[in-house]
Amino acid sequence: MTVQKDRCVWITGGSMGLGRALALRCAREGWRVVASARSRDALEGLVEEGSALPGRIEAVPLDVTDHEAVAAAVKRIEDEIAPVGLAVLNAGTHRPMAARSFRAGDVDALLRLNVLGVANCLEALLPRMIDRGAGHLALVASIAGYSGLPTAAGYGASKAALINMAESLKPELDALGIKLQLVNPGFVKTPLTDKNDFPMPFLMPADAAAEAFFRGLQSDRFEIVFPRRLVYLLKLLRCLPYGPFFALTRRALPKS
Ligand SMILES: NC(=O)c1ccc[n+]([C@@H]2O[C@H](COP(=O)([O-])OP(=O)(O)OC[C@H]3O[C@@H](n4cnc5c(N)ncnc54)[C@H](OP(=O)(O)O)[C@@H]3O)[C@@H](O)[C@H]2O)c1
Repeated sequence: MTVQKDRCVWITGGSMGLGRALALRCAREGWRVVASARSRDALEGLVEEGSALPGRIEAVPLDVTDHEAVAAAVKRIEDEIAPVGLAVLNAGTHRPMAARSFRAGDVDALLRLNVLGVANCLEALLPRMIDRGAGHLALVASIAGYSGLPTAAGYGASKAALINMAESLKPELDALGIKLQLVNPGFVKTPLTDKNDFPMPFLMPADAAAEAFFRGLQSDRFEIVFPRRLVYLLKLLRCLPYGPFFALTRRALPKS
């Protein structure tokens, strides 16, 4: 078991999609879960659904892009609920970006949420975990961060930054007794992907993804991936020379 009895699991982006499914999976295991997101109503719905489970889910509404609010939320969780044993930094979003409608403002919004949102949480958590000489962090990136894919210029850049951030921190955190894992999902059926109007190979139901995520958290692997078949294809793609790489990615361009 990853989380000690006197500690809690904090999941950002816990009100919907992958984070919500993982919160319920952890509560089924008897874990104490704190879920954060902006929508209080969605969080309350989750708390209610979790009340029938062996663990306990509590809601701490939060916008992870708000630096001071994140620091205050982590203080509140640790003072009033329990020290964070495992933090799943999952809050994130996607905005498809065609070259014709490329906007710096969209890139800014994606980087603020997907990268700075995680950095805000790390800044609040790391001193506490370092003081305790213990802790477990899971950063949710994406296979879109492996290499540049059509219409994902902003999203892919933000997830590539997270992958790099996790790789950079891992050796030092190992030495400090803190377990850091990187989570790179393929397509998972969530409110986020429900907006996609293109084919999503190996699309995985959120519950199955949460199960793979949960099992990965128990492992010593640095990278947690699901669904594996799509992830391995994307790993192969990034090893190709640019000639064949672009010949393949060009095929994913939306039909205009
Ligand atoms: N679904 C996939 O296929 C897929 C694939 C690869 C990676 N991922 C990654 O997995 C993570 C979860 O994706 P998902 O598909 O579950 O997305 P989702 O269904 O859109 O859920 C996103 C969650 O993040 C929360 N959130 C958004 N902005 C926030 C903010 N500023 N502060 C705090 N919470 C915020 C949302 O709640 P509120 O709106 O109420 O704040 C919601 O709980 C994301 O990082 C995504 O990039 C997903």
